[in-house]
Amino acid sequence: MKAVHQVLNREQQRLDFQGALDALKTQDERNRMGQFATPTALALEILSFAEKIVPHGEQIRFLDPGFGTGAFYSALLRTFPASRIAAAAGFEVDPHYAGPALELWADTELDLHMADFTRQQPLEGVFNLLICNPPYVRHHHIVNGEKARIQAASARACGVQFSGLAGLYCHFLGLSHAWMVEGGVAGWLIPGEFMAVNYGGAVKRYLLDKVRLLHIHRFDPDEVQFDDCLVSSAVVWFRKEAPPADYNVQFTFGGTLSNPKICRMVPASVLRVEPKWTRFAQAQVHTGQEAPPLSDFFTIKRGLATGDNSYFILTASQISVRKLPFQFFKPILPSPRYLPQTEVMSDENGNPILNYPLYLLDCNISEIALKNHYPALWSYLQEGRERGVAKRYLCQHRSPWYSQENRPAAPIVCTYLGRSNLKSGRPFRFILNHSRATVTNVYLALYPKPNLARVFAKDPSAVRKIWETLNRIQPQTMLAEGRVYGGGLHKLEPRELANVPVPELAGLLC
Ligand SMILES: C[S@@+](CC[C@H](N)C(=O)[O-])C[C@H]1O[C@@H](n2cnc3c(N)ncnc32)[C@H](O)[C@@H]1O
Repeated sequence: MKAVHQVLNREQQRLDFQGALDALKTQDERNRMGQFATPTALALEILSFAEKIVPHGEQIRFLDPGFGTGAFYSALLRTFPASRIAAAAGFEVDPHYAGPALELWADTELDLHMADFTRQQPLEGVFNLLICNPPYVRHHHIVNGEKARIQAASARACGVQFSGLAGLYCHFLGLSHAWMVEGGVAGWLIPGEFMAVNYGGAVKRYLLDKVRLLHIHRFDPDEVQFDDCLVSSAVVWFRKEAPPADYNVQFTFGGTLSNPKICRMVPASVLRVEPKWTRFAQAQVHTGQEAPPLSDFFTIKRGLATGDNSYFILTASQISVRKLPFQFFKPILPSPRYLPQTEVMSDENGNPILNYPLYLLDCNISEIALKNHYPALWSYLQEGRERGVAKRYLCQHRSPWYSQENRPAAPIVCTYLGRSNLKSGRPFRFILNHSRATVTNVYLALYPKPNLARVFAKDPSAVRKIWETLNRIQPQTMLAEGRVYGGGLHKLEPRELANVPVPELAGLLC
């Protein structure tokens, strides 16, 4: 218990140091040296994850080549029992941080060097756990012949020559290779940009050819978990061992390392040919298109975002009580929750036959003209203004604010949010729409492309056949294109639905 207290106190002390030391530097100085410390929670998460990957019970020999004040070392002490830590070492070039860190950790077994890691003769094959948030120093800040020296040193250490545009963090990765024991595990907190930009090509080759890539986690920029400078970061895990001919790499996105929002296994063979690894984990892996995707037949659009459904969508009786002019309303389907059927029939006017039909206000006439000719609607608009509807983001960006985007009725619409554990086993439903009702953005609307529209014109019964075909698509095929959120909620974006392969439709357009 006492030991736990000591470690916690030490972490608090370290954070105090870190804050005070950072405050003595300008942002520009810290940028040039890549001095942005890892938050305690993230360091702990990374070490806890490491604990699950390193072989059970193995003695740990830890290295952090860009030590700072020791966020990872501190987390190591909190994660592994002292009896398992056989060695721990670090390098920190800047005395501003190295000095206080040496003092802070003086009574521990840590072997901390106040030195430039890029100039070290590697202590080969010693360390079996390398954790690092390397300095993110852009290549143009590596000057005076340093770039060529570091490039040559990292190529010697890992066997891959990084581009002249690669930042210092790439060279840290390459240089560290020589320090690791065969079978050792590395976890790198690095900018995710290497997955998408040209200079990252050599980094990706290193990860695929020189080690066995295990896992890449990207944080979701929309989830503000850590400092801004970390939101586009990735945690890259690998084991130093010759990679097998083909194997799967885990890509995760969002949430936390151990509890991500999205997870996908991607074969290394796919990564070799995919220029943008940032597609994963969200995007589906395509191994050569075997069947035509839905996008060959349909243009897929999300339904209308009205800006305020409770204001713009009314029942027939609300319209008649308020004496609103019916010509400014068009039928709209209720949300999937209130639409259990998979086929919507129509009356002779194209209105959907539903228990509670709904109508969307969509008008292009100016308020002045409405005031003169349709005072009831004008009053309703004033009510909307009072309710703040006109000030809503979407409404403000429309002219007039009570007009809607053009989203004609689609013959087939699809629900795109659902759970896979339903009795039907089908999280998404295709609905055959005979009416002229449009949909809101809780549906995806499928508009036939000209080639398919011609088929429909010739043979009206073809719509039904296609709709039946779509409802026969295996749930797994659709789930594989989409994404899954915590709690098993599946979602398909328009582009993801467009990617769903439909072999049964292949012969249709011949
Ligand atoms: C992004 S910080 C991470 C610090 C710490 N490991 C953490 O996670 O909080 C990178 C550290 O590497 C240090 N550094 C930069 N260049 C270095 C070099 N050539 N050799 C050793 N350390 C270096 C910086 O001074 C900085 O403290």
